[in-house]
Amino acid sequence: MGQPEQPESASSVSRRGFLKGVGATALATGALAQSGLAATALAPRTANAEPPAAPPVPLFGPAPVAVKLDINGKVRELRLEPRVTLLDALRNHLDLTGAKKVCDRATCGACTVLMDGKTVYACTVLAVEAQGKKIETVEGLAEAHGGNAPIQKCFVANDAQQCGFCTPGFVMACEGFRRGHAGASREEVLEGLGGNLCRCGTYHGVANAVLDVLDAAKGGK
Ligand code: FES
Ligand code: FES
Repeated sequence: MGQPEQPESASSVSRRGFLKGVGATALATGALAQSGLAATALAPRTANAEPPAAPPVPLFGPAPVAVKLDINGKVRELRLEPRVTLLDALRNHLDLTGAKKVCDRATCGACTVLMDGKTVYACTVLAVEAQGKKIETVEGLAEAHGGNAPIQKCFVANDAQQCGFCTPGFVMACEGFRRGHAGASREEVLEGLGGNLCRCGTYHGVANAVLDVLDAAKGGK
């Protein structure tokens, strides 16, 4: 014997009616989910409702790409993620640790190198951006002179370093400055080196070193 039909009343819902209702709701939810509106459409609306969650941030960035850098006159080929800075490329991938990582945000100058003859903070240049430019580091400066370059000799003579942590960046800043500023005054030197900080306070020694190297160039020494 089959199940007896339940009579429908105003206050009860028949099994068939209930299933129809569920099916219609499921279809509507699926359609909303496909259009990306499900979360907002179905969320309870209250005055203090949280905004919908932001899409998840990917854990990994773009994969390494081929990067060719001209460092101290030698072409170096690397594979680096596009986010890698010139400073990290030098220090972590090429073992050129003269440029220092101190602030890593364009404040201290400890990472100064020359790019096409101009001083730059290597922590703010991406390695991929440095392609096609001539990069000079403190290692190359010494190498090109077969020992200390004139500016480095003037640093030593003027006692222009104490702990030495800022010194490679200062040396490159001074080298970049002296190339375009023959005959600069002390004030111009101090202003020109304003992008480099020294916690040991060697500024006057550094300025004297630059003035000496400019004098030596003038006298053909
Ligand atoms: S480490 Fe680059 S400016 Fe400080
Ligand atoms: S010599 Fe020490 S920070 Fe400059």
